[in-house]
Amino acid sequence: MTRAARSDTTWVFGYGSLIYKVDFPYQQKATASISGWERRFWQGSHDHRGTPCAPGRVVTLIPSPGATCRGVAYLVEQEVFEHLDHREKNGYERYSVTICLDEKEVEVDGLIYVATEDNHAYLGPAHLEEVASHISRSHGPSGSNTDYVLQLARALRKLGDHDPHVYALEALLTQ
Ligand code: SIN
Repeated sequence: MTRAARSDTTWVFGYGSLIYKVDFPYQQKATASISGWERRFWQGSHDHRGTPCAPGRVVTLIPSPGATCRGVAYLVEQEVFEHLDHREKNGYERYSVTICLDEKEVEVDGLIYVATEDNHAYLGPAHLEEVASHISRSHGPSGSNTDYVLQLARALRKLGDHDPHVYALEALLTQ
């Protein structure tokens, strides 16, 4: 592995909707992974898949030593963060991370958007059946919450990822 970084552009790693809804320009795109994190549908969504009165549930990352989270990394110009910060404004903050780009087996410094338990929209853990039932009745300006889960599961399958949490929710929502 080698390390590569360029100062005028930054790698950002997407693990949720940033994988399948790419509404921003990028210079490079690569399937990638980060170590020590796992996806969970523990973040409330007031502005995309729910409303302030009836928040939906979307993914955040939780620290998980030994785990690998697969997703997509984008090399973007600094201006793009204005758009991404706005899109992820409901509780997510940028964190620095080392991203491993699949194809070139290169490690790069980059950023992730994580919603930690101290943000105002955080919902936290619940039984999977409860999470699925909550998602099944939630809708917001970006569409139905179920659609978020199904699109994410489809995108992860294309990446060859196995995420038991996401696939179990997909199964509950399509049974
Ligand atoms: C991400 O996709 O990386 C952040 C969470 C989301 O917007 O769904």
